Amino acid sequence: MCGIIGIASNKSVTSNIINSLKRLEYRGYDSAGIATISKKNLNEKKCSGRVEELEKILFNSPAQGNIGIGHVRWATHGIPNEVNAHPHSSEIVSVVHNGIIENSNSLKKKLEKEGYKFKSQTDTEVITLLITKYLKDSNPIDAVLKSLEYLEGSFALGILFKDQSDIIIGARRGSPLAVGYSNNENYLGSDSYALKAMTNKISYLDDGEICKITKDSVEFFDVSKNKINKKILVLSEDKNETKLGDYKNFMSKEIFEQPTTIKNCLNEYIDKIRNDINLYDFPIDPKKINKIFLVGCGTAYHSCQVAKYWIEELTDLNVETEVASEFRYRKIRFNPNTLYIFVSQSGETADTAAALEIAKKNKMKTCSIINVVESSIARNSDWVVPIHAGPEIGVASTKAFIGQMLVLYIMSLKISKIRGNIDDKNYIEKIKNLKNLPQGIENSLKTEELIQIFAKDFLSAKGSMFLGRGSSFPIALEGALKLKELSYLHAEGYPAGEMKHGPLALIEDGLPVIILAPKDKYFEKTISNMQEVIARGGKVLLISDKHDEVINENIRFKIEMPFIDELLNPFLLTIPLQLLAYHVALLKKCDIDKPRNLAKSVTVE
Ligand code: M6R
Repeated sequence: MCGIIGIASNKSVTSNIINSLKRLEYRGYDSAGIATISKKNLNEKKCSGRVEELEKILFNSPAQGNIGIGHVRWATHGIPNEVNAHPHSSEIVSVVHNGIIENSNSLKKKLEKEGYKFKSQTDTEVITLLITKYLKDSNPIDAVLKSLEYLEGSFALGILFKDQSDIIIGARRGSPLAVGYSNNENYLGSDSYALKAMTNKISYLDDGEICKITKDSVEFFDVSKNKINKKILVLSEDKNETKLGDYKNFMSKEIFEQPTTIKNCLNEYIDKIRNDINLYDFPIDPKKINKIFLVGCGTAYHSCQVAKYWIEELTDLNVETEVASEFRYRKIRFNPNTLYIFVSQSGETADTAAALEIAKKNKMKTCSIINVVESSIARNSDWVVPIHAGPEIGVASTKAFIGQMLVLYIMSLKISKIRGNIDDKNYIEKIKNLKNLPQGIENSLKTEELIQIFAKDFLSAKGSMFLGRGSSFPIALEGALKLKELSYLHAEGYPAGEMKHGPLALIEDGLPVIILAPKDKYFEKTISNMQEVIARGGKVLLISDKHDEVINENIRFKIEMPFIDELLNPFLLTIPLQLLAYHVALLKKCDIDKPRNLAKSVTVE
């Protein structure tokens, strides 16, 4: 889960490499590094910590050169320190790598026997030393191709050569890699986002391909060194959505722009005049679908779990959900009439991409629900349904979750209509209700003041629990995930009905417990579970549209959620939980946009 960049130019590349690395920090931010070539010298500078640290080092001791590579790291092999930071260089080669070399131990042993010395604990250094070895009697392209033959695992590589100081070689297997084009300057990057400030002309490498970049030319080859032609895509304009404005951090910006996220998405998919849903081109005729299989990771997976309840409620279809890291290794009985849906904000999540690949290999029709439309998952799917949320920068996913749920809800409604599972009156009513969702979210955001007070209880808490039933259960999971990743506090999400089967033992005096109890068919049951928690000392925050019906003077806080339509409750329950995680993290002075140990895009397994 690292970010790589390479630039070949007719002018100094250092500041553009640094700017690109800042854009790539969403992929990893535990160490950073750069290598350039000037006057036939390889200059390497690296450090643990953020790109800002690297910038300070370069200020005092610049790395000049018109050609260079850079890296931001999320440590897999070896702790995040200066030695393990990329690039990994020998006397003559410098390499940046995103991915994992699975057979690095055995390769290392072989190379050590041959007299090669390793400086780091990384898997990447074997690539540097293999290329160094093969460069003795071949040119850069042949040396790289020969080295790649020995590698097992995944990689996107950027490689500099001291003695051929005008070229960068890029190579891809498993991890994404893009090439950008400009005048007197060409680029290599982990994704188009890294290159967007410099160019909007992009090509993508496919698995097994390599490229050779100079300031004036870009050439692509397959593994047998045959030249290949690549399509050049022209990307859409960046609409400045990545500016913080008056917000303290991106997460608060992204939480508060959710009414707009919803409006934008509704504008794309709702025909307000005909009260219909503009979703066509299903890869399988919805009447012929026999089952829906939803796959994702983390927050994206939670949106799949919410959708399971909607699809079951609105259609006569069976639904299965699975986290991508399990899906890819399960013995799934693929069925051509099953619609396989892959949900991902970034569209680069390694497990989700691999799960999609497996479905494709089994000749299944695939759909992806994506935020980044230029992403690998989007490019590989038969049908792409974007969520139109705009760039999400905060590592904790907020507006993308709302967008994923919205697209899944709209899709469930449309499938229900096409299959004749819902009558016209009900369908139109549900579409009209959707139009009230932005205002509903706006009202939910007003709970912030109360949430801020409740957040203080978490400062002395050992842990916390989030409980719900039905579609509120995955929202409880999402609330717990948000709190964990932002505030580093233990949090459990549980179906409220499971408490007596073990987790009730965790409840003790003062433990914060968040009860999600909208007035639905589970309401009374969830409230009984809440009473059991209070009886054992739990400090309860109740979130409900009918909290006034609940009598217990020992409820610490009640938060009123707006009501629009029972099926839309998951959206309105989500907002206070995002705010809670945000405010606990703020009180604990955690890094809101870049929580420890994490990265925005999980591009390794
Ligand atoms: O980009 P994706 O939606 O595929 O990412 C999936 C998860 O890594 C992501 O949702 C993660 O769980 C978030 N950091 C949670 O806030």
